[in-house]
Order: sequence, then structure tokens, then C-alpha cells
Amino acid sequence: MIPGSRPTWVEIDIAALRHNFQEVQRTVGADCEVLAVVKADAYGHGASQVAPALADAGASLFGVALVEEAVELRRLGIEQPIVIFGGAFPGQESTVLEHHLTPILYDLTSARQLDRAAHAAGRTIDYHLKVDTGMGRFGFSVEQLDAGLPVLKELKHLNMTGLMSHLAVADELEQPLTATQSATFVAVIEVVEKAGFNPRYRHLANSAGIYSQVLAGCNLVRPGIALYGGLTGGPYRGAFTQQPVMRFVSQIVQLKEVAPETGLSYGHRFVTSRPSRVAAIPVGYADGYNRLLTNRGEVLIHGRRAPVVGTVCMDCILVDVTDLPEVQLGDQVVLLGRDGDDIVTAEEWADKIGSITYEVFCNISKRVPRIFINS
Ligand SMILES: Cc1ncc(COP(=O)(O)O)c(C=O)c1O
Repeated sequence: MIPGSRPTWVEIDIAALRHNFQEVQRTVGADCEVLAVVKADAYGHGASQVAPALADAGASLFGVALVEEAVELRRLGIEQPIVIFGGAFPGQESTVLEHHLTPILYDLTSARQLDRAAHAAGRTIDYHLKVDTGMGRFGFSVEQLDAGLPVLKELKHLNMTGLMSHLAVADELEQPLTATQSATFVAVIEVVEKAGFNPRYRHLANSAGIYSQVLAGCNLVRPGIALYGGLTGGPYRGAFTQQPVMRFVSQIVQLKEVAPETGLSYGHRFVTSRPSRVAAIPVGYADGYNRLLTNRGEVLIHGRRAPVVGTVCMDCILVDVTDLPEVQLGDQVVLLGRDGDDIVTAEEWADKIGSITYEVFCNISKRVPRIFINS
């Protein structure tokens, strides 16, 4: 807790982050480099400390969605290449040049624009070529390469340092599309090399791809969620030793004895059925405690579970602690993460709100202070 502030905070365990990075590196082997994905403020974990820690751990490159996020990393002193997955938008060329950023390219119009800007500055811009092998999103289609590659070859102020594609269904192990995408990517590498390019980095795998060993032809991987310990569900349960990095914590600020038949919180969507003890916790949906956890969430107090009762408010939740008589005012409440022998995982939250661990992490809002431990 930060002295003098609301007793609600997020702990980010840098040792767990380092462990997860090392596990990725071990999985892919020493010959494969790692691009650490730190977009969206390192998936809500706080890029200001996470990115330098990953640089120290051995990340060779970083990945963000936006030019703005890349500039922030440069301000933090990150010197590794920063790949911008969303590409550079018109008007951002001078920022790309100033900060030596590496946009991905997925169309010839922006390629020409970047080339012109680099020419005017007497410089070259590094880029990673994005090819769509099945994601159906950004990228040159395989069919466009024959016509596109000679055009790119003529743009003398652009330098292809990477060739990449993105997996669509790697987290569903039984899907044949992943193997098809991998085979297509291997063929694309050949086409690109035949056209006279020799990109230093060839990369396809996100976290799920890494753990499914979709690495053919590649010498770089792009983990995001695995670094944050959030790839723990479904087919990956127990498969490796990722550790959760984020712990979301608060405190009991009011304890009340409540009679049976008492309605609690907005809409009285919970009504007590027995004499109850109800604790108020200063965290709500404005902090990222999703409103869909109304009457569904569970928290840990002294390592034991207690249910969220009534509507999740903007700044407050209520918890039924009737079955935990030892609970006192000021006790710590773990919303997400480990407490004693039990753990509330991001996956558990995600299942309850019909979402994914990524969104759980990203939605912990900016007003919740991040405290970095074990750094
Ligand atoms: C292009 C690209 N590569 C890699 C990643 C990392 O994915 P994951 O967090 O599943 O490892 C993302 C994230 O969305 C991405 O957009």
C-alpha cells in the first residue's frame, strides 16, 4: 500500500516476470531471440518498470501497438529495436525517424510514404514486412507478394529487417489452421528471399505458438501473455511453470452486522438470507473490478474465499464474511492473485465475465497504483 493513498493497489512481481521470460527463452532455445510484447502499458502491468526488467532479462526487441507507446519506451531508455504492430499512420513518419522505430508494413501506400520521409531526412527506416497467412487481419496476402516485393525493392530508403505473420487460433491445439499457417510462412520466407531480401528476423509465434512449438523457419518469437503469467488455461493448464505477475489487493474499510432479508447495494440484487457480516472494500468497476462479477466474484481474506454480494459499484464492492468470523476491519483482501494456499487467477475472472485474461489485466485502470516488488 502507498502511505497516504486509498488502500487499493496492484503488486507487480518482477521476479515472476523474469522467471516467465526465462521459461520462454528455455522453451525456444538459445538460437531463437525474444521480442517482448509490452503494448497497452505491458498488458496493464506498467511498462515503465516491466520493459527495463525484460531488457535486463535478455529481450532483444520490443513490440507495441502504437508509435506513441514506442516513444514512451524510448523515454524510459529502451535502446533495443521497437516494432510497432499497428504500423505508422500518416503524419507519424518524422517520429519514427526521430526515435529510430521499426514499423510493420502491410501496404504499399504507407511504404511509399515512409520511403519519401526517410529520403527527405537522408536516412533509412527499418521495417518488418507483415504477411497475412490466415489471421485475416493486417498484412500483404500471399498473392500480393509477387507484385508487391519488387515495388518494395525499389524503395531504397526502407530496409526490411524482419518478416512476420500472426497466428489466428494457436490457443486451440486441435485446430489444423496453425500448421497450415506455419507451412505457408515457411513458403513465404522462400518467396521473400528469392525476391532479394534477407530479413534478419523471421517470426510467427505468439505465446500460444511458442508453447505449441510453431517455430519452423523462425529465429524470433513474440510472447506477450506468457510473460505476464496469463496463459494458464485450457490446454496449457499445468503444462509449464509460468507464474502470475500481477496481484490486485485492497482492504476492508467497513464491517457491518446485517439482519436477514436486507437488500445490499444498487438494485438490491442480493438479499441476505441469514444474519450476516458484510465487508465493504474500496474497489469497483472504475478500477477494473468488472461489474459482471456482481454476485459472482470471490476474494481471498486470510487465504480463504468470500463471495462478492450485490452489485459491483464504481468504487466499492461488498463481500459476505459471515463464514469467516476471524475477519477484522483493515484486513487485506486479495482480488486477484495468491493468498496463502489459494489463488484467484485471471483465468477464473475471465471465465466469470465471459472474457480472456488479456482483458482482465488491461482493464485494471490507471487510478490503481502499481507497486513493483522483487525487482
Ligand atoms: C502481432 C502480435 N504478436 C504477438 C502478440 C502477443 O500475443 P500473446 O499475448 O498471445 O503472446 C500480439 C498480441 O496481441 C500481437 O498483436
